[in-house]
Amino acid sequence: MKVLLIGSGAREHAVARACAKSAHLSELLCYGSGLNPGIQELCHVYVKGSLSDVEAMANFARNQSVDLAIVGPEAPLEQGVADALWNEEIPCVGPRKAAAQLETSKGFTRQLMRDCGIEAYPKFQMFTALKGVDEFLGELGDRYVVKFDGLMGGKGVKVAGEHLHNHKEARDYCRSIFKKGGTLVIEEKLEGEEFSLMSFCDGTHLLHTIPVQDHKRAFEGDTGPNTGGMGSYTDVQGSLPFLTDQDIQDAREINQAIARAVMEETETPFQGILYGGFMATATGVKVIEYNVRFGDPEVMNVLALMETDFLDVCQGIVFGNLDQYSLSFSPRASVCKYAVPKGYPDNPMRGRPIDISSITSRDTLYLAAVDQSEEGLVETGSRTAAVVRVAESLEEAERIAEKEIRAIKGPLFHRKDIGTAALIRKRVAHMNKLRG
Ligand code: AMP
Ligand code: GLY
Repeated sequence: MKVLLIGSGAREHAVARACAKSAHLSELLCYGSGLNPGIQELCHVYVKGSLSDVEAMANFARNQSVDLAIVGPEAPLEQGVADALWNEEIPCVGPRKAAAQLETSKGFTRQLMRDCGIEAYPKFQMFTALKGVDEFLGELGDRYVVKFDGLMGGKGVKVAGEHLHNHKEARDYCRSIFKKGGTLVIEEKLEGEEFSLMSFCDGTHLLHTIPVQDHKRAFEGDTGPNTGGMGSYTDVQGSLPFLTDQDIQDAREINQAIARAVMEETETPFQGILYGGFMATATGVKVIEYNVRFGDPEVMNVLALMETDFLDVCQGIVFGNLDQYSLSFSPRASVCKYAVPKGYPDNPMRGRPIDISSITSRDTLYLAAVDQSEEGLVETGSRTAAVVRVAESLEEAERIAEKEIRAIKGPLFHRKDIGTAALIRKRVAHMNKLRG
């Protein structure tokens, strides 16, 4: 099978590895916005181009006669690359534009849940102007979240008590969004523990992967601005230490209901990776957000543990017969850590050399926002590189992941606390307290 991968970050590096391991791959091609040397090593053809140029991506796919396309990031999906590929009769893993609204519009998803009776959402209202903002903030008191209604790479969400300290600050943030012509959602701030559960979906059938916990905040102890995600872990037997089996089952059922709701509302089958971002709360599992592609870094945990042939699953997604496959995962634990440029996410260093020569295993290193320059590998300002380690226990996976991430040299930082016993204890204690 000749496969085109769109995108060139660490997520796509993980996908490229999964394709390379598949018994079905004959040729891998990549269309990326940057030149990722890790992906390049696995590819037969690699072109650089704009991820918003739908025509260029579709033309490339047609001219290369690919059998299947896999879209990594959300931006080309928002532009309708899946629609363009299907129009060329090229099967695509990644939803068409109408179904991609699940991620591209937070308002769409909240309304969809309300309209379709999927009750796992917080109190919310959508706004296109300041009118009514004060009243709704007054109703929520000091438990509110303001979300820009569009793609912001995880950085458009501001949470009361962390990024916003009073209603005036909240109103100012709303005003700044309206000034740029944007719209927003204000919602009740939920309390609990977050986790992601990604499901492969062919429009009707879903195959669920395992729950992962990402860490969105930039700094240790979950402080600082929101980022794309600083690292993630999974516990043994496909579990997380603070979740019950019922929580996992509930999240799966919500993903199933969302896929059905998208089909009903948009008449478009969701064919791709349905990423539910959840919060386990005292009153059950609630939806924080939906994404329409693999989570980054979560994909690195999931694909490191997945034993099923990835291209089998992709075929199930595009041909609508996912129910004929099943997924199997290694029962081991995994920890993924990201090294990011100093100053990330607000003021990241750019163009500085990084040195990966001390890494012990290139097979578990995932390159992200890097470029090849005359000086060698340089960081380009977003998350730089990730490592993943799999082991018999979470403790061991953390220990070896931490050792490996430290081996990447340069003006970088990472979160030392991700996956540590101390942080896990805190999460479990938090959840136990909430559940009473
Ligand atoms: P999102 O981009 O919607 O996932 O939001 C980014 C982050 O903001 C999430 O990972 C949460 O940590 C936080 N967040 C978003 N919505 C809520 C909410 N309703 N209650 C509490 N925290 C939230
Ligand atoms: N890790 C969060 C995301 O991919 O959006």
